[in-house]
Amino acid sequence: MFYIDHIREIFKERFKNKIAYSYVKTFGCQQNEADSEKICGFLKDIGFAFTNDPIIADFILFNTCAVRHTAQDRIYGHIGNLKKLKKINKNILIVICGCMVELEEDKNEIMSKFPYIDFICGAKSINEFPELLYQNLTGERVKKDYSMNAVQKNKFKSWVPIISGCNNFCSYCIVPFVRGREISRNFDDIINECKNYILNGTKIITFLGQNVNSYNFNGIKFQDLLKEVDKIDGDFVIRFMTSHPKDFTNELVDVLCECKHFSKQLHLPVQSGNNRILKLMNRKYTREDYIEKIKYAREKIDDLVITSDIIVGFPSETEEEFEDTISLVKEVKFFSLFNFIYSPRKGTCAANMNDFIPYKEKSERMTRLIKIQDEISEDLYSKLIGKTYRSFVEEIFEDFFVCRTESNLILKIPKKINNHMIGDTIYAKIVNAGRNVLYGECLGGKFEG
Ligand code: 5AD
Ligand code: SF4
Repeated sequence: MFYIDHIREIFKERFKNKIAYSYVKTFGCQQNEADSEKICGFLKDIGFAFTNDPIIADFILFNTCAVRHTAQDRIYGHIGNLKKLKKINKNILIVICGCMVELEEDKNEIMSKFPYIDFICGAKSINEFPELLYQNLTGERVKKDYSMNAVQKNKFKSWVPIISGCNNFCSYCIVPFVRGREISRNFDDIINECKNYILNGTKIITFLGQNVNSYNFNGIKFQDLLKEVDKIDGDFVIRFMTSHPKDFTNELVDVLCECKHFSKQLHLPVQSGNNRILKLMNRKYTREDYIEKIKYAREKIDDLVITSDIIVGFPSETEEEFEDTISLVKEVKFFSLFNFIYSPRKGTCAANMNDFIPYKEKSERMTRLIKIQDEISEDLYSKLIGKTYRSFVEEIFEDFFVCRTESNLILKIPKKINNHMIGDTIYAKIVNAGRNVLYGECLGGKFEG
């Protein structure tokens, strides 16, 4: 690993043996979070400490998102603000990574508008980050002989990427263009990574991928992966995201029923409740298919927490068609929803569709949807009062242990006499509920299972 040692030497000299700080800011999805954790592992390895304050940083990295226009605008604003930091500290290194710089137009704009950026590294090249840094520092290309190990923000929650890219080409989505085609990760590597995390106290393993159900490594499928990780002994749960409804089958539900570690939580983005719009979106399922699938899963798995994503104001969506989405939301009753106003992405199929609905109208639809979902969430949360949940302490804030139930709901428990640490498993009885939050009383006890 000669070049890694060389990088360390270069930085020692550059920062005159003082502690050098890195500031890493992540935009977008969990995949980006996982990529950032890997880069942080590398930065630590080459001698950087971490800071939350960009003013004192010697190395600034933004991991960017391209999924919606609003996210991109925000990122441009943040990059613009870095100019003054480069003026104060000419030794500072500024790097832009992620999905935005995979887009030719944005990449060119970033490089020409912000000349103080040292280099860029697209989402598809994240694993070559160390070599790109070396090339930037020395002008020399090197062959890869080093792999990055994640520094976890929270070691009780582990992201485990299993598949990258996407082959689905939903008509609104830029992801297949920026992350490329699906590539499944080596099965043994995933199993070993999970074993390692669990041995080190991880409570929540989340399999990551744009479309986890498409996992296929030399014939080994997602179901096989689930079963294998489920065999590992320990006090942990398995989550995964994201599942595409078209690939979320009843057979998978049957497998989940057999998994003792399944977290009983599903994120199943529906996007719209109207069949014409679903077709235009190229989602390959109907409203009826979706509802049937949810019904089967709920019949088989008690207390299942289901969440979803919805796009409001897709090109040509009429008021009646939007009302189909509202009626689906009312019928299915999600615990929570992530709602997005449609954002045209250049290069995607939907960007060429006639988008005649005024923004104001879209935004009004969004407000209505949020209000309806708030009522549903409140109702579902309040119905949990009296139940008991296994939960994991995520942080200690003011007078509460802030926990996640194993099904991923936020649960606050007053500190009072019990003493717990971050990462502890506790059993709690739900005594109250607010909007998107549960309040519980600790029943004590370590997990014995
Ligand atoms: N406009 C609005 N929302 C989008 N999403 C993806 N692409 C777009 C877009 N162009 C939403 C989808 C997806 C989530 C991650 O982001 O709902 O499930
Ligand atoms: Fe985008 Fe559709 Fe692929 Fe999800 S499944 S990443 S929405 S193209």
